[in-house]
Amino acid sequence: MVKPVLPLLPYGRQSVDEEDIAAVVEQLRGDWLTQGPAVRVFEEALAAITGASYAVAVNSGTAALHLACLAAGVREGDVGITSDITFVASANAIRYAGGQPLLADVDPASALVTLASLEAQVEAAARLGKKPKVLVPVDFSGAVADLPAVRALAERTGALVIEDAAHALGATYTDPARPGETLRAAGCVDAHMGILSFHPVKHITTGEGGAVTTNDEALYRELLDLRTHGITKDPALLERNDGPWYYEQRTLGYNYRITDVLCALGTSQAKKLPRFLERRRAIAREYDAKLASLADFVTPLAVRAGVTSAYHLYIVNLVQRPGESLAQVAARRLDLYQRMRAASILPQVHYIPVHGQPDFVRAGLGGGSYPGAERYYAGCLSLPMFPAMVDGDVDRVVDVIAAARGAG
Ligand SMILES: Cc1ncc(COP(=O)(O)O)c(C=O)c1O
Repeated sequence: MVKPVLPLLPYGRQSVDEEDIAAVVEQLRGDWLTQGPAVRVFEEALAAITGASYAVAVNSGTAALHLACLAAGVREGDVGITSDITFVASANAIRYAGGQPLLADVDPASALVTLASLEAQVEAAARLGKKPKVLVPVDFSGAVADLPAVRALAERTGALVIEDAAHALGATYTDPARPGETLRAAGCVDAHMGILSFHPVKHITTGEGGAVTTNDEALYRELLDLRTHGITKDPALLERNDGPWYYEQRTLGYNYRITDVLCALGTSQAKKLPRFLERRRAIAREYDAKLASLADFVTPLAVRAGVTSAYHLYIVNLVQRPGESLAQVAARRLDLYQRMRAASILPQVHYIPVHGQPDFVRAGLGGGSYPGAERYYAGCLSLPMFPAMVDGDVDRVVDVIAAARGAG
């Protein structure tokens, strides 16, 4: 008998509809392909979503991190602290600016940095004779890091906080010190800057794209200049003024501009964000309910109290059996991964601990002890999670997990 071919079910996928396509086509027919008004419109949409006063759209989340580190004053010889479980870009941005990233361990249940692990890295910085210039907490999988705790630590150490909210557009959290308030990811209530990514698997997409958010006007102006070669035309800042055409490069910046074409797509996508989030949260609830009976085999990533996740990812971790080594957990994760692939499901692993990446090790930035990250990494698996999933998709995934559990 011929096996029926199942549609591929990836871990993430963009949702682009005819309305988005029409918005892009209209932009292509207009006067501005780049540096036009559509950028500002997209930035205003991002400010409205996050609640931050300002948003600066750029051509990737990585560029956003780089500019945020530069605007925060990271320079040669500085140190910054981020998470060991993140996409490498969070740590690379500190390196681009000339700084040394120190990697904080995570709570294996949530994959978020803990206050204790951040404090341990502040002490590691002190051993180097330094205070961290930036703390870069990562809102993992859509769940906001403990930003009030990070902010308190930053105030004690004099660091600036850059919230890596690439996974968290639309997520919210609460702070016991601010009863009744709902705080938003990248809203910059507890951070000096937030960064977003619009890569296709994210909540809204521009293909490639990103943004920095802030409530600080001086940082905003700095970010605008850095996005375009460090050039300003602001008469108040010029050292001399040769005429209306005149500009000055005041600092070394980049071309990190995003095009108007992509911003037209971003603005169109942003209108759908509430629907996308609702769908992601409904899928997460379905997984939670259906995986409850497999709780001796897999555990969904823990979401901190007070946080409403934006569910960029839906991650489970294999339960470690008594006496089982992490290598044995990892072997069972590989088995589960392969069973899914055989069923046309394409899960993913987010992320390989940064401290073990060969380039970090060779640069002397690896090493150290990361029991939380190692435990998390051994068993984690990102299951399909995207708005266009249809009825029955979650069952397809859960059935494979149940079969893997049954096989021992
Ligand atoms: C946590 C995190 N930070 C930063 C980035 C970088 O974003 P981009 O791919 O848009 O450069 C990503 C991308 O996946 C990410 O997951």
